[in-house]
Amino acid sequence: MKNYLTTKDIDSLPQWLSDAFKIKQNPLANNKLGLNKTLGLFFFNNSLRTRLSTQKAAINLGMDVMIMNFGEEGWALEYKDGSIMDKGSAEHVKEAAQVLSQYCDIIGIRAFAGLNNKKLDEEELILNSFKKYTTVPVINMESSLSHPLQALADVITITEHKKNVSPKIVLSWAPHPRALPHAVANSFVKMMHLNKADLLITHPAGYELDHRITMNTPIEYNQEKALENADFVYVKNWSSYNDYGMVMNTSPNWMITSKKLDQAKFMHCLPVRRNVVVEDSVLDGNQSLVIEQANNRTYAAQLVLQKLLEDQRI
Ligand code: CP
Repeated sequence: MKNYLTTKDIDSLPQWLSDAFKIKQNPLANNKLGLNKTLGLFFFNNSLRTRLSTQKAAINLGMDVMIMNFGEEGWALEYKDGSIMDKGSAEHVKEAAQVLSQYCDIIGIRAFAGLNNKKLDEEELILNSFKKYTTVPVINMESSLSHPLQALADVITITEHKKNVSPKIVLSWAPHPRALPHAVANSFVKMMHLNKADLLITHPAGYELDHRITMNTPIEYNQEKALENADFVYVKNWSSYNDYGMVMNTSPNWMITSKKLDQAKFMHCLPVRRNVVVEDSVLDGNQSLVIEQANNRTYAAQLVLQKLLEDQRI
C-alpha cells in the first residue's frame, strides 16, 4: 500500500480486521518497527480523536511525531499551477509538500470540505496536492469526501459486537444546527459495502448522499420504519448533497432517543451534540459504542501505519 486515502486502499478487509485484532491484543508488539521514523500530522481543521489516536498509534510503533495546525500556524498555501502569487498566499503547495517530505517519513492530512463549491470539494484539492508533491506516503485524516480511518475503526467495532454474520445496520441522518460534510457518512457506506453488510440508510427527503457512493443501498425515508429490528444504528448529520451544503431540516423529530434505538447498539464518530443529535440517555446508556469506536481509532491508525511502514520498507 502506497497511501491510505480511501477505503479503496484496503486490499482485503477480512485480513485487515484480523491484523487489527492482533494489534489490539498486543499494541506494543511492533514497537521497534517505526524506530527513527517520523510521522507528520498536518491539520487544516480541528480534531481531538484523529490527532491523538494517530499520535498514540505512532508512539506504539516507536515513531516520532510532528504535528502542525496548518490553518492557524502555517503559511497560507497556493494550489493553482502557474498562479501569480501577489495576493494572500505566501507559499505554494509544491514547495510545502516537498519540504514536509524532507522531515517526515509518512504524512497525514486533514482538510474538510468547504461546502460552498461542490466541484472544488470533489477535486479534493488539498489532499490530492499533497499526494502529488510529497515523496512519502500520505494518510487521509478526513478530507472533503472521505474519512477512511474513522470507517476502519467503525468496522472493527461492529465486528467485535455483532451477534450474527449479517447484522442489520442503519445509517440514520440526525439534526444539527450547522452544515456538516459528507465524509464520515460516505466512508461508512463504502466500508459497509466492503463488509457486505445489510445496510439501510434513512434521512429526510432531500438529504440523499451522492448516488455514486450509495449505489444500490436501500433508502427508507421513514426513520421509525428503518430502525425496526436494527442491530446497529450509526447516527450522523450531513448537509444536503443535491442543494450542496444547505441545511434544510433541523426538526428534532430525527434525534435518536432510547425509545427509537430499542435493542440496537448506538454508534457515532464524535464529537456529538447532546440532545440535538442524540438524547443523553442513549449516550449514557450501555448500548452506546461511541467510546469503543474512539478507542478503536488507535488500532485503525496503527494498522494503517504498520502497513505503510512494512509495505514501503521506508
Ligand atoms: N471522529 C473524529 O474524526 O474526531 P475528531 O474530529 O475529533 O478527530
